[in-house]
Amino acid sequence: MLIGVPKEVFPGEKRVAATPDSVIRLRKLGHEVIVEAGAGELAKFPDAAYAEVGATVAESAREVWEKADLILKVRAPEQYHSDSNIHEIDLLREETALMCFIWPAQNKEMLERLREKKVTTLSMDCVPRISRAQKLDALSSMANIAGYRAVIEAAHHFGRFFTGQVTAAGNVPPAKVLVIGAGVAGLAAIGTAVSLGAVVRAFDTRPEVADQVKSLNAEFLDLKVELDEDGEGGGGYAKVMSKEYIAAEMELFAQQAMEVDIIITTALIPGKKAPELITAGMVKSMKEGSVIVDMAAAQGGNCALTEPEEVVTKYGVSIIGLTDLTSRVPTQSSQLYATNLYHLIDDMTEDGNLAIDMQDEVIRGTLVTHEGMITWPAPPLLNEGRKQAHTGLVETPPAEPPQASPAKKATQISIFGGAAAGLLGLVGHFAPPDFLQHLTVFVLACFVGWQVVWNVTPALHTPLMAVTNAISGIIIVGAVIQVSDNNFSTPNILAGIAIFVAMINVTGGFAVTQRMLRMFRK
Ligand code: NAI
Repeated sequence: MLIGVPKEVFPGEKRVAATPDSVIRLRKLGHEVIVEAGAGELAKFPDAAYAEVGATVAESAREVWEKADLILKVRAPEQYHSDSNIHEIDLLREETALMCFIWPAQNKEMLERLREKKVTTLSMDCVPRISRAQKLDALSSMANIAGYRAVIEAAHHFGRFFTGQVTAAGNVPPAKVLVIGAGVAGLAAIGTAVSLGAVVRAFDTRPEVADQVKSLNAEFLDLKVELDEDGEGGGGYAKVMSKEYIAAEMELFAQQAMEVDIIITTALIPGKKAPELITAGMVKSMKEGSVIVDMAAAQGGNCALTEPEEVVTKYGVSIIGLTDLTSRVPTQSSQLYATNLYHLIDDMTEDGNLAIDMQDEVIRGTLVTHEGMITWPAPPLLNEGRKQAHTGLVETPPAEPPQASPAKKATQISIFGGAAAGLLGLVGHFAPPDFLQHLTVFVLACFVGWQVVWNVTPALHTPLMAVTNAISGIIIVGAVIQVSDNNFSTPNILAGIAIFVAMINVTGGFAVTQRMLRMFRK
């Protein structure tokens, strides 16, 4: 399959959908790549770098669009191509494929045009946010970069250090930063601001992110009033909160606005207008020289005074409403985006072509047009991480797995229990008394061990390993006592094997614990 990478035509867009690294990987999958001359120039990937890894560099955009079977882009096709004054969709061949950000909810007309051309379109903003799809999650990789860049922009407009310092010329207090919304972008902003030395606090309507905020050495703010409301809306996204809740959090922000130097807002519920959380009054109450970075500017903004695409100063506060934060880190964002695209292509490549598996919830979620049909929106994920029984073209409820009735279950348990008791009785009758005693201890140990391990959450598996290390230690002590009588008997051979196996566990446990501890050392 020939993959085409045209230059982005949106004014100021510096990202590119494939990098020399991703070209190498795409070619390893058996595909060829054609890149428009200058496509990667603004992201610091010169044409020569693409040619060096085996891509063809085409002189014109038309050549790329007309030859390629699959087009990779960052932004949705543009109205007029600067080169030929023609809509990019008009350059797209019928029945080919396209991967880029489409934003189908806002681009219905574009969907219709893609459908008419029978284009197979995969929209990178529609990748479901489930663990299996993390490597394709372009929204998260872009939000992560944008969160970092938001702090850099804030630092640029802020007239002081982020970190506190004690100098001969006087003491410098650390900057105080408030981050509203601790999703992907918010957490990246928190991490960056903390690493620059600022005192960071954050708030989110989803209380489960509190631990993540604290793990980044920031403070998670609590609402002073008791409101029994959780912002979790499923799939790592928030839900719309009640009026009372929004009023309570705005009261919190009003107090914070008077204290902090920088506010970074990222609050958003997908598909909805951004909630207005910072009023003009709050901006007025901020210290002279403070900065607000409104990352939700493109969705209406979290601050009442934000002007999308602009940096304005109101009441002495710089309000940054830039919507191209990722494009301002073009090399990194192109690298991550190109890797996301590579993973999607890798997942879909079969015998050198793209295979659309409608049963695969990740592909199904991302697919917006196919075979002359609009396949957006995909049906909601009923069971995160598991395969769905339906493709969404026809909604069918998944079949309930057959469940045993309680009476049937009770009968099964009594049959198993009876059989086990009978077997034990038989063994007790014929085996020596010692054996029965050991067997009882063994069965009890298996049962207790099974209960303990089964009920431990995966997050606690590392401490659990320390416990199993201790158990292995006990085994080694017992086995050493057993082999110390210098007899070459079967129990001694078994004890020798036990020492060997337990040693593997102990050594492995220490190695893994060491590795884990290294992760926490700076
Ligand atoms: P996300 O969905 O991961 O995070 C949004 C967070 O806001 C969630 O944790 C949610 O619980 C929280 N939230 C929602 N309503 C809230 C409320 N009323 N109060 C407090 N918290 C609330 O989204 P992500 O990916 O982190 O993106 C955040 C924002 O950044 C979006 O608006 C996105 O469009 C924007 N963005 C901006 C870019 C730019 O160049 N300006 C680039 C990339 C993303």
